[in-house]
Amino acid sequence: MTTTDPSRRFADRRVVVTGAAGGVGASLVEAFRREGAHVVGTDVTPGEGLHRVDLRDEAAITAFAAAAVEELGGVDVLCNVAGIQRFARLGDITADGLRAHFDVNAVAPVVLTQALAPALAESGGNVVTIASISALMAQPYNAVYCASKAAVLMAMRSLAMELAAHRVRVNCVSPGGIETPMPHTSAAELPADIDWDLLMRSNSAFPGFMPPTDIAEAVLFLASPAASSITGSNLVVDRGVVW
Ligand SMILES: NC(=O)c1ccc[n+]([C@@H]2O[C@H](COP(=O)([O-])OP(=O)(O)OC[C@H]3O[C@@H](n4cnc5c(N)ncnc54)[C@H](O)[C@@H]3O)[C@@H](O)[C@H]2O)c1
Repeated sequence: MTTTDPSRRFADRRVVVTGAAGGVGASLVEAFRREGAHVVGTDVTPGEGLHRVDLRDEAAITAFAAAAVEELGGVDVLCNVAGIQRFARLGDITADGLRAHFDVNAVAPVVLTQALAPALAESGGNVVTIASISALMAQPYNAVYCASKAAVLMAMRSLAMELAAHRVRVNCVSPGGIETPMPHTSAAELPADIDWDLLMRSNSAFPGFMPPTDIAEAVLFLASPAASSITGSNLVVDRGVVW
């Protein structure tokens, strides 16, 4: 097999994936490995072969970045996947809740991208960050999450401009509802007396949750040489919610 084999687009590529114990992250690790990549995964949730890192801890992120570069001998692709989402309606929003969402969803991807920037510059690699359609559209009871995802989207677009000087591409994928534990856990926490009419205002053209593999496919495309002219972009994968 050679690197031009379309089923092995990432032969011997060195890939870092956060949120690797989660629905999308685990699917992504599997997809990259299937295509020949060497993958270092990390999560705060324990998982086989994963580096256990709490991405709210800046020093831990920096130490992890150094360990990943050492283990892989460099880095070609960084995928920022880890995230949290808790609904909070007006009146229930707390500064701590806001900070927790910003720390994991926005601060950590930027800090990790910065820590791996020298390695990515050396390889001419790229970054793919999972944002969300929540970065692009208003959603009731979701102001905290929406704000954190909008923040990471604009941060990544800005980093794309700076890293272009080093031939490093930076892109986002913005999913709609994915069949992972995240939306179920969040929905179960909603108070009983919320306004369901408000929630139902965002429908998708193709109904139903997407499998995490649909998101992994989009990430692999952006990370692959087929996307070599794409940087600073945001690929919406949502079954048609954001028109
Ligand atoms: N599931 C959806 O419907 C949906 C929709 C749009 C965007 N997203 C985004 O997709 C990404 C993946 O989500 P998922 O659906 O796989 O959810 P998931 O909950 O299955 O996975 C998220 C992972 O992030 C990890 N994580 C959370 N806090 C962390 C921390 N402090 N340090 C390190 N790791 C931490 C979790 O342990 C978990 O394994 C997230 O960024 C999420 O916001 C999900």
